[in-house]
Amino acid sequence: MKKIAIIAGARPNFMKIAPIIRAIEKDKDKFFEYKLIHTGQHYDKNMSDIFFEELNIPKPDINLGVGSGSQSKQVAEIMIKLEEYLLDYKLDYVLVVGDVNSTMAASIVASKLGIKLIHVEAGLRSYDRAMPEEINRIITDHLSDYLFVTDKVGMAILKKEGIDKSKCFFVGNVMIDSLVSILPKLKKDNTNIKSAIVTIHRPSNVDNKEDLIKILDILKEVSKDYKIIWPIHPRTKKNIENFGLLDEIKNYDLKEPMGYIEFMNLVYNSSLIVTDSGGIQEETSYLKIPCITLRYNTERPETVTEGTNFLTGPVKEEVITALNKVKSGNYNKNPKIKFWDGKSAKRIIKILKNIN
Ligand code: UD1
Repeated sequence: MKKIAIIAGARPNFMKIAPIIRAIEKDKDKFFEYKLIHTGQHYDKNMSDIFFEELNIPKPDINLGVGSGSQSKQVAEIMIKLEEYLLDYKLDYVLVVGDVNSTMAASIVASKLGIKLIHVEAGLRSYDRAMPEEINRIITDHLSDYLFVTDKVGMAILKKEGIDKSKCFFVGNVMIDSLVSILPKLKKDNTNIKSAIVTIHRPSNVDNKEDLIKILDILKEVSKDYKIIWPIHPRTKKNIENFGLLDEIKNYDLKEPMGYIEFMNLVYNSSLIVTDSGGIQEETSYLKIPCITLRYNTERPETVTEGTNFLTGPVKEEVITALNKVKSGNYNKNPKIKFWDGKSAKRIIKILKNIN
């Protein structure tokens, strides 16, 4: 039996570890014995616990409780606490997912301790180093011993960066595994309201007053044709309050951050998504719902070329053009992206077993 530590810390990590844990538990050879470590980067019930309940993720063996702080403080605290914990175990592997600060911090610790590092969701690049996640992705991929890649573009990127191809495996998207697993729980509502679900939380869109005003102006445009439903991220909410912009959002249906099933149900019943999130670009392509992404770049280009995603930047004119295309039905109604099929975690476990 091989010993593996699985690391998760922030909201988008939880949907990615759930199918991997399920695949490990279902493996009839019981190849892996695992420890689950929560860094504590996200700590509110609706940013963390609720995902464990809904996705049947076991309680973590430990929560490092690092909480919020500047990026360096957060990363440093995770590193110190995680090293202490990992030193007590003789591990064969550390597995990290995604691109949050917890991902990179754990990757550095595992590599320095000489433990083999597995990265699930490798090969994503936005080529925008102002994005904290881009730095996390580059460091994690270059330290990893096994890189599990979401799409074909990612394989080409890793090759171009000189990462040995024997370490890279195209397995598809574990985020879609989770979505497939909850599909039976989603219910079509029969209202005829055209809704747009909004999620905005990137520092580049919300940490500066002028940028945030641009976003709110875009939402005003969207609200001419859609009912805006907006589960607000704590970072965004705090900034709207601090910048005195509460009046600009008073007509929208504002919600607290919500659990995975409730949120996916909203998306499933909506006509449009307006977002700057990464994962939602993938989920909407899978669900065939048009998505307007208020960023200049995406690390998930296949959602644009083969999915339902419009990359408009936070630029009102571009958003209006995309809105017109959506309204006239001029978008890809039948996206299909290879290996986004609910079986990615199984592929990962099979490959890891065969390597040994
Ligand atoms: C992090 C990830 C981002 C991911 C996002 C999803 C990094 C660099 N960024 O961004 O990739 O898309 O999570 O949510 O890792 N806060 C709370 N409660 C919580 C957690 C955070 O109120 O449970 C507030 C705190 O004020 C905190 C702020 O949100 O300072 C930002 O949290 P942080 O984890 O630093 O980054 P996110 O913006 O959530």
